[in-house]
Amino acid sequence: MARSTSQRGRSGRHLAPDATKAGSAKQPSEKTGSVPQQPEPLDDDLPLAREAQRAVRVLNPSGSVTMPRPPRRRVIAVANQKGGVGKTTSTVNLAVALALHGNRVMVIDLDPQGNASTGLGVEHGAGTPSVYEAVVEGMSLDEIATKVDGIPSLYCIPATIDLAGAEVELVNVVAREARLQKSIDTFSGELDYILIDCPPSLGLLTVNALVAAEEVLIPIQCEYYALEGLGQLLRNIELIKAHLNSRLRVSTILLTMYDKRTKLADQVEQEVRGHFSEIVLDAVVPRSVRVSEAPGYGQSIMTYDPGSRGATSYFEAAEEIALRGAKLSPRRGKNQKGGN
Ligand SMILES: Nc1ncnc2c1ncn2[C@@H]1O[C@H](COP(=O)(O)OP(=O)(O)OP(=O)(O)O)[C@@H](O)[C@H]1O
Ligand SMILES: [Mg+2]
Repeated sequence: MARSTSQRGRSGRHLAPDATKAGSAKQPSEKTGSVPQQPEPLDDDLPLAREAQRAVRVLNPSGSVTMPRPPRRRVIAVANQKGGVGKTTSTVNLAVALALHGNRVMVIDLDPQGNASTGLGVEHGAGTPSVYEAVVEGMSLDEIATKVDGIPSLYCIPATIDLAGAEVELVNVVAREARLQKSIDTFSGELDYILIDCPPSLGLLTVNALVAAEEVLIPIQCEYYALEGLGQLLRNIELIKAHLNSRLRVSTILLTMYDKRTKLADQVEQEVRGHFSEIVLDAVVPRSVRVSEAPGYGQSIMTYDPGSRGATSYFEAAEEIALRGAKLSPRRGKNQKGGN
């Protein structure tokens, strides 16, 4: 049974008092696996849910933007071994944007730093059942999935500091590269998206994400050195494709932290678009203080400041991702759950 963040306390450091009130917990569904078959409607009796409703009204006032559910579940690894390029920020904000617009989404925090868990306001202190228990000990994701407060149909598999030891502990485990894939394949809930927030390395955790995923989303920071190391990442993806996961492809590149005052940002954009053409999303995420403030409140920029450029850009990026996904063939892989 999936957990609710309110049932277990939140890790956001500057929560509004209302957010932690007893009784504000949205109970998880009674159903085994807990992820409801249909996306849940927005519930307006909770403070956080009211913020989510406000976000939708601000971002999509006429309701004309739709984010169609994909014909089959999409598992997307958000990866770039370069640190601080916006992997976590993009994972959290895209997940919230997709969930606010009718998709059933799960974020898997695969980074021992636990930043995605913090950004979603999900408990991830020592002892919390987490992705470590799933990948190393084989615990079911059904037992670990935590409902994100205030956002309908959004779940998180948190990461605790235990994950820091996982790469070493997995070395002697059978099929160590496919542990996360196995966990995902045996999850009983139906989902439209699984977004995996990778750590800034190409180690075994990232390999697990790339074996479990069908798509890779690479955030690229519009700064000097942005493209350094990208070749290494692409070579690793090719190796995994050749030996471990033939379905894997780089489906999406998202330009982040774009500072329009600098010529460099524009040069990086031109270079990335020239090289990767249509897989680069039209939406570009600007550098914005509001985006970097939101995680301190256990919130996404979507709910923290829905009127900001940062929120609009992630909203547009999520729309593009959803529209591209709607064109996917409905073919289902082995154990593939989700879709309509
Ligand atoms: N668009 C933005 N504008 C301003 N700051 C941002 C933006 N996106 C991310 N940041 C900030 O930059 C820092 C790095 O972002 P983030 O944690 O998302 O990167 P990451 O790739 O996940 O990092 P790591 O490699 O450590 O996991 C964070 O402090 C975040 O708040
Ligand atoms: Mg991160």
